[in-house]
Amino acid sequence: MEKVKIKEYVSLTKTYRFSAGHRLFIKSLSDEENFKIFDTCSNPNGHGHDYSIEVKLTGDIDPETGMIYSLEDLDKIMKLVIEDLDHKRLDIEVPYFENDQPTGENIAKYIWNKIKPSLSDKLIHLKLSETSNSYFEYYEEGNYPYER
Ligand code: NI
Repeated sequence: MEKVKIKEYVSLTKTYRFSAGHRLFIKSLSDEENFKIFDTCSNPNGHGHDYSIEVKLTGDIDPETGMIYSLEDLDKIMKLVIEDLDHKRLDIEVPYFENDQPTGENIAKYIWNKIKPSLSDKLIHLKLSETSNSYFEYYEEGNYPYER
């Protein structure tokens, strides 16, 4: 009987953490109007979150190492990105967020774009958790499971 070769997919996911502060607000609006849009995230004095990032990689298993990607190399890449965010007031101290609101959506996109060049096609998914009740995900075309 002929053996059927099944295409396999293997992924690895690692979680990283950082803490940061932000204030979400539209400069041209009053504090009251901002509160309607951003709720407590528009608190004029800012506030903080303990963020976690899940980075998912996929690829072929290296026959020698048995791994898709070196976790040590992934740690190095993530460390550089996290250093720029950790214990910062994002909308004041990180130039990128002077123009783009430091929402979960934009932070996820920011991290993705920072790490994508190093991880290239191995990077397939990034999940940023802001609170125990909310998380944000970043995908590129072709990997988005809810394509319409
Ligand atoms: Ni917030």
